[in-house]
Amino acid sequence: MQKVAFVTGASRGIGKAIALLFGREGYTVVCASRTLNDLQKVVQRITDLGGEALAIELDVSILFDFQSCVKKVVEKYGKIDVLINNAGVVRDKLLLRMSENDWDTVLNINLKGCFNGIKAVTPGMMKNRYGRIINITSVVGITGNAGQANYASSKAGIIGLTKSVAKELASRNITVNAVAPGYIDTDMTDNLSDKVREELINQIPLRRIGTPEDVALTVKFLTENGANYITGQTISVNGGLYM
Ligand SMILES: NC(=O)c1ccc[n+]([C@@H]2O[C@H](COP(=O)([O-])OP(=O)(O)OC[C@H]3O[C@@H](n4cnc5c(N)ncnc54)[C@H](OP(=O)(O)O)[C@@H]3O)[C@@H](O)[C@H]2O)c1
Repeated sequence: MQKVAFVTGASRGIGKAIALLFGREGYTVVCASRTLNDLQKVVQRITDLGGEALAIELDVSILFDFQSCVKKVVEKYGKIDVLINNAGVVRDKLLLRMSENDWDTVLNINLKGCFNGIKAVTPGMMKNRYGRIINITSVVGITGNAGQANYASSKAGIIGLTKSVAKELASRNITVNAVAPGYIDTDMTDNLSDKVREELINQIPLRRIGTPEDVALTVKFLTENGANYITGQTISVNGGLYM
């Protein structure tokens, strides 16, 4: 039976690269986000290469919706082996200008979205005595960042969530890890000016901004046999920006 991977935020950027890689590697890929049209293009690329994929419209911040989606997927494919909680947003502002809504939106999508995904998939994974959960955090969840109190808090929260749930689920052969990208070339970072970009590259020992594929390959590794004994960890993919 083919393994099934559920990827949130699969319509663009890092999530799209993760979905395409899992599709190429023979997984059935469930691609979820709020924009069905974009998801269908990702699914098309996977099926064009002979893979199996499904597009599902989902707002990860709503637990009931996440649980309904997972139910549909399990009815169709029988199980979910891998969950990648990748969906995320930014609402950057200095704290004094940050509204309650800026805070709530980012925390609800980035952190509660991961909680919702884990809640939705774990009953099935526990029954199957197998699961691989990967949460996408960020370098700023480790270092903090001016102008990103909401985002950095959500990403630091993901690290605490990852460690706690890893401890709870380890006895059922479910591993839970986080991947912390540095600066990656996606829509999320494309508003950086050329000057800021150059300054940034000068701070990165590997002297380049990362690609979505750099992150996807690390996520994939965490689902392979070589990572069977890794749980509760945060793996940085940042070109050495933070060590
Ligand atoms: N790019 C970077 O430099 C960087 C660095 C560190 C960490 N990260 C993290 O990596 C992840 C992916 O980022 P990216 O750079 O690929 O961003 P992106 O290009 O802006 O894509 C974000 C994805 O999240 C989805 N999304 C947003 N809100 C959602 C919601 N409520 N429900 C479901 N899906 C939702 C979006 O799809 P829809 O709009 O269709 O819903 C989109 O697919 C995020 O968690 C981000 O924080 C990125």
